[in-house]
Amino acid sequence: MNDPGAAQPTLSDEVVTLRPWRPDDATAVDRACQDAEIARFVPIPQPYTLDDARWFVASCAEESITGPSAHFAIVDPATDLLLGAISRHGPRAETPHRAAIGYWLAPEARGRGVATRAVRLLVDWSFATSTTVRMELYTDVENERSGRVARRAGFEPEGIRRAWDLDRAGRPIDSAFYVRLRST
Ligand SMILES: CC(C)(COP(=O)(O)OP(=O)(O)OC[C@H]1O[C@@H](n2cnc3c(N)ncnc32)[C@H](O)[C@@H]1OP(=O)(O)O)[C@@H](O)C(=O)NCCC(=O)NCCS
Repeated sequence: MNDPGAAQPTLSDEVVTLRPWRPDDATAVDRACQDAEIARFVPIPQPYTLDDARWFVASCAEESITGPSAHFAIVDPATDLLLGAISRHGPRAETPHRAAIGYWLAPEARGRGVATRAVRLLVDWSFATSTTVRMELYTDVENERSGRVARRAGFEPEGIRRAWDLDRAGRPIDSAFYVRLRST
């Protein structure tokens, strides 16, 4: 759904800002991704290196131009300090009605509503600029904090999909699904 060549927007509610990724974000991404909670719930390489962060930032920037996914750095609007990352995966050509949201916050950015605001900004923008009707978000059933983000951002629990993902050791993980429809 991205318009190839079009500039990726910056989205803000004046408490958090979502902006395009830049190469100089890699150092802050590398620092944040040393966190055990991110390593537990997000499928990032282990150990995580500065090269991994450089690849992440570059591929996010490129995919956000070529589409259909859109990746944003979550930053403090006053200082541009990196608070986290948020992505919309899809909508793909074969399923233009739906897309999925994923995110993480640096440890020091947690506990003050940043992720909830970021999800709301990304979902509102996606509904306003596409024909997508279904935004979904899924988390490890043990990731209660992420489930609370989903509910606070207006998503409804839809159920649990057994063995939806695999952990790094290849063991199945049950995922809790949440959905927000265009009409809600
Ligand atoms: C999941 C994750 C993003 C949630 O972060 P978070 O800080 O709990 O979420 P928010 O930024 O929305 O903040 C909400 C918390 O701040 C509190 N809060 C304080 N002031 C607030 C405000 N003004 N508005 C909203 N919430 C506020 C809320 O009560 C809530 O705490 P609670 O869940 O204990 O009730 C974070 O834990 C994380 O990065 N985890 C590792 C990666 C991960 O799991 N990613 C998701 C994979 S599906």
